[in-house]
Amino acid sequence: MPDDAPSVSPQAAESPFERLRTAFDDDRDADTFLLRLERYGPDLRESLGAVYGEATPDLYLRLQDALLLGYHERPAELKRLDEARLLRPDWLQQETMLGYVAYTDRFAGTLKGVGEHLGYLQELGVGYLHLMPLLMPREGENDGGYAVADYRAVRPDLGSMQHLSDLAHELRAHGISLCLDLVLNHVAQEHEWARRAQAGEAKYQAYFHMFEGREEPDAYERTLPEVFPDFAPGNFTFDEASRKWVWTTFNTYQWDLNWANPEVFLEFVEIMTYLANRGVEIFRLDAIAFIWKRLETNSQNQPEVHLLTRALRAALRIVAPAVAFKAEAIVAPADLISYLGRSAHHGKLSDMAYHNSLMVQLWSSLASRDVRLFETALLNFPPKPSTSTWGVYVRCHDDIGWAISDQDAAQAGSSGPGHRQFLSDFYSGEYPGSFASGLVFQYNPRTGDRRISGSAASLAGLERAQALGDDAATDLALERLLLLHAVTLGFGGVPLLYMGDELATLNDYSFEGDPAHASDNRWVHRPAMNWNRAAERFDPGSVPGRMFAGLRELIGARKHLPPLHASVESEVYRSPNPAVLFLARHHPAGTMLALYNFSENEQIFPSTALTPHFQHARDAISGQAVSLDASSLTLAPYGRLWLVEAGRA
Ligand code: GLC
Repeated sequence: MPDDAPSVSPQAAESPFERLRTAFDDDRDADTFLLRLERYGPDLRESLGAVYGEATPDLYLRLQDALLLGYHERPAELKRLDEARLLRPDWLQQETMLGYVAYTDRFAGTLKGVGEHLGYLQELGVGYLHLMPLLMPREGENDGGYAVADYRAVRPDLGSMQHLSDLAHELRAHGISLCLDLVLNHVAQEHEWARRAQAGEAKYQAYFHMFEGREEPDAYERTLPEVFPDFAPGNFTFDEASRKWVWTTFNTYQWDLNWANPEVFLEFVEIMTYLANRGVEIFRLDAIAFIWKRLETNSQNQPEVHLLTRALRAALRIVAPAVAFKAEAIVAPADLISYLGRSAHHGKLSDMAYHNSLMVQLWSSLASRDVRLFETALLNFPPKPSTSTWGVYVRCHDDIGWAISDQDAAQAGSSGPGHRQFLSDFYSGEYPGSFASGLVFQYNPRTGDRRISGSAASLAGLERAQALGDDAATDLALERLLLLHAVTLGFGGVPLLYMGDELATLNDYSFEGDPAHASDNRWVHRPAMNWNRAAERFDPGSVPGRMFAGLRELIGARKHLPPLHASVESEVYRSPNPAVLFLARHHPAGTMLALYNFSENEQIFPSTALTPHFQHARDAISGQAVSLDASSLTLAPYGRLWLVEAGRA
């Protein structure tokens, strides 16, 4: 820390930040900013000090200027939102919160078009809309927009920055918060920083990891995994223009940023305040695990990642405390939990993180009709900080990697490699008797990994059932989908519905004919919204109608279940029946026990497992009383029950 570092003072009047008061016309505005600076400034200094040390004494002052500017530019409406959020810090944890994830063009053509479908989102009870990457990407292949060429411009065919803020405003008026991707790990090679680095500008070369020879890249490669072993093997790309090797974890056109350079940090603070001031309420921190590199490690989850997130969050709390962070860290549970803030970082990192394990276990149990591995994985999962929440999901835009640890598998009496192989076989449809239609994504001959692409409905058997015109198989596929959604909606966290899943949308193989997508089969589950299909959503006899109604029933029930507030966690109980997942939520507001049958057969469940918790039970999904008088109850094929004390909401 530089010697002139302001120290925290309990007395605003004596605050060393007071000298900043002259930057404000309005005393109340000044108070707000100075109080926040006093509250979060130390966090900012401490985390930046830990990352950058004494190297840049002017960093903090430059940062302060950027924050002041960001605060001055923040529209009044958003400043009001900041105050509202400070009064409701658990806004993302509430049982009423539901997310929807969509591609702007594929959902509605343009940003303006999205505004025309707010009614649809409201029918589902959406309170959070993640619009997939929409900032200016590079042309041609761009990893679904995750290769950003300009963070301050919108993809022109979708609209303009003005359209984005107009939409954010309109969404907010309808109780919907806008979530955008913030790609922190890399930029497109067409981004101005990369172009200037290519042209030889030292300042910008220092924004990236660029090497003269292969010596350092080779040294790093020894311990680095490959994210896209198939279409982008290795982690470095030779750049002809600068004659240097550039770190490119993902595709060759995505240049990893060098966060060890404080200029990169400053750039992103400015980008984030810019976007927050246009109405973005949640930043999805894309590939956050990768932003810090360290020799002899896999260069993921390094301590600096958390320090930097903490600094970014503290900066945003000063300018725009309404904004929340969602960590996209698809990493092992023990590493994942750190993204929600543990130990010294408790309460200071992301507000939310994807629960990748839950998603993987859903599909795993669906294939095996056995929940014992699911139970083990959840029992071994480290506890979540009470102020944070999970993003829970059945499917998303990415492939499914079988993130099942050998240790969990062994404890559950299975083999890690064997089970992962089974799941790849099952979901690619190769396994005898499989109901799934999926595609293998990124076969890695070195590790044997075969990830899977495919829409939820196709993976759950609907595609095969429909092709065969088999009504019974169609019924089962729909029940499977509703089962998976019941688990996520009943888990506690923000359920993230992936566009089209509410209509049981099938795989779309037309990506194969599009040169920008053909090599990446994740596009099979990223089809355009089929509004004709959506038009059938209230037809109770149609497949989309049955899916939509089933989902709405669950969503409707969830809203009235205070035990689903995310401040407490779901507990897993060892189930007396290996096909039935048994979860409990003990919240001061009430207890909820959930039973989920992962098999296509009826299952018996002993009432004695439930009677210690309830005198009279009611299933909150159907609203029906559930008798615990008999020695057992029977669960329908893929049946699900959310049990609460009867007579209680
Ligand atoms: C995230 C995205 C994925 C993308 C990657 C690189 O994992 O979800 O789609 O390929 O980041 O940006």
